[in-house]
Amino acid sequence: MSDPRPTPIPPLIERDSIPHHVAVVMDGNGRWAQRQGLARTEGHGAGEVALVDTAYGALAIGVKALTVYAFSTENWRRPIDEVRYLMNFNQGLLERRQHELHAEGVRITFSGRRDWRVPRRVLRNMDEAAELTKSNKVMTLNIAFNYGGRAEIVDAVKQLVQDKVPANKIDEKAIRSRLYHPELPDPDLVIRTSGEYRISNFLLWEMAYSELVFTEVLWPDFRREDLYEAIAEYQRRERRFGGLDK
Ligand code: IPE
Ligand code: IPE
Ligand code: MG
Repeated sequence: MSDPRPTPIPPLIERDSIPHHVAVVMDGNGRWAQRQGLARTEGHGAGEVALVDTAYGALAIGVKALTVYAFSTENWRRPIDEVRYLMNFNQGLLERRQHELHAEGVRITFSGRRDWRVPRRVLRNMDEAAELTKSNKVMTLNIAFNYGGRAEIVDAVKQLVQDKVPANKIDEKAIRSRLYHPELPDPDLVIRTSGEYRISNFLLWEMAYSELVFTEVLWPDFRREDLYEAIAEYQRRERRFGGLDK
């Protein structure tokens, strides 16, 4: 299946400064559901359409990497039924969507702890989707699952010790190369939905110089038009990286 909802790209987006890597904190599913008198889990289910539409929207304008925060290391604190739902839902989403994403040339990758809590069957599914799509080049869809920014840095430090790197050889490059996906450039743009103005342990190392865009839209209502608005906002910013000239 190809894009089920091809849409014209709005003129407000400049085609020559599309962010290479966009990262999204997909937040507000529970509130979306509760506002309609539904169970919180229905909101997670409704988030699937938002994710797929956002991925197609990103593909259409040439974004090269899209990282989405699907489950944090702190989300284990939720009621067991919701956690179980999220595990099954994410597994199902991969089963339902991996082939169409593969057909679009999307490489599916994962960022997060593998050896901690995630059921084996979910890991197997993740490996299958990653294996199927590993040679694709059009865009990387990186799913942050069982992901925590602090855990990622801890894991990188553990790796440094295992690699017996001496203290005088530890620099930013040594740490960066041991993050979950060192081949992905840092996100240019990080979007958070649902009107929450916080980072919630997402990409702590990688977002050092990302532009942040916050929107009130709840994740299940998010569509590519909202992505394009965030990108237009990003394009109005002046990135300085600590210097003065552009
Ligand atoms: C985001 O929606 C999805 C996950 C964290 C898995 P929430 O479930 O956090 O929804 P709210 O923030 O409670 O509305
Ligand atoms: C962040 O949202 C994690 C994901 C979107 C997966 P949360 O809803 O878990 O964050 P907090 O608890 O509001 O900070
Ligand atoms: Mg939330």
